[in-house]
Amino acid sequence: MAPERFRRFKDISVSERILNTVFLLTIGLGYLAALANLYYTHQGLDGKAGLSIEDVVISYHGSTTQTRLGTAIKGIMKPNLRYASDGQVIEEWIRAGAEEPEYTDKIAPILNRDCVICHTPSINPTLPDLTNYKGVAEVAHGGGATIPTLVRVSHIHLFGIAFILFFIGKIFLLCDINMYLKRIAVVIPFAAMLLDVVSWFITKSTPSFAYVVVISGTLMGISMGMQIVISIYQMWFYSRKSEVGC
Ligand code: HEC
Repeated sequence: MAPERFRRFKDISVSERILNTVFLLTIGLGYLAALANLYYTHQGLDGKAGLSIEDVVISYHGSTTQTRLGTAIKGIMKPNLRYASDGQVIEEWIRAGAEEPEYTDKIAPILNRDCVICHTPSINPTLPDLTNYKGVAEVAHGGGATIPTLVRVSHIHLFGIAFILFFIGKIFLLCDINMYLKRIAVVIPFAAMLLDVVSWFITKSTPSFAYVVVISGTLMGISMGMQIVISIYQMWFYSRKSEVGC
């Protein structure tokens, strides 16, 4: 194996280094923005400020204690109930899983009497539709991600991030480090991303997998960040003569 066959940072022009550097810095910034976005979309779902594992569980699995309907009948919509006891009937129904047969028996009569005067699409198209089970179920289940949503987010995520990781990895390959380490290092972010996406789907049915979502997401961030930092460092501040390796 002739070491000269493999390009290293010392073999590329300053212009290429500049291009690599602005690319890596932009991706790094984009990643920080993605983290901030993640924080704002998931934080506080459990009713407490800040991001917690419970927020992740609610995002993917959903919650039977925090639902829009449950919150509304305990709060702003409470005065619309003719009998306070009906509020408890609705709350119990939500806690029991908000199933359709009980909806038809117990819940629909209450909503038809007290709520549909406003919550009908033809009257207020922006309000939750409380005239049928489908509309009610949407606010009676605690916001867990639906399969179509997860499929949509995962395909965007996989395509988009695979591209980013590929280009970061291509640059990182020009580093001068142990070749076994390098071979493993280019795989880790891809493996972590796949595990992350798979664990979203598992968390939908098994809440404890939220930990895997967090750990794999963190691992992807750290491994990607290290490739960026090591590449930028070696590109500009490192000049040891290349050793045999690939
Ligand atoms: C007088 C009209 C009116 C009646 C009657 C009414 N609502 Fe509402 N409802 C509203 C309006 C207006 C909003 C939007 C409030 C807002 O976004 O601040 C709303 C919002 C809601 C929401 C969504 C809250 C959220 O998470 O954004 C739910 C759920 C809800 N109502 C349930 C009910 C239930 C259950 C009843 C019957 C007990 C009911 N509403 C009766 C007008 C009504």
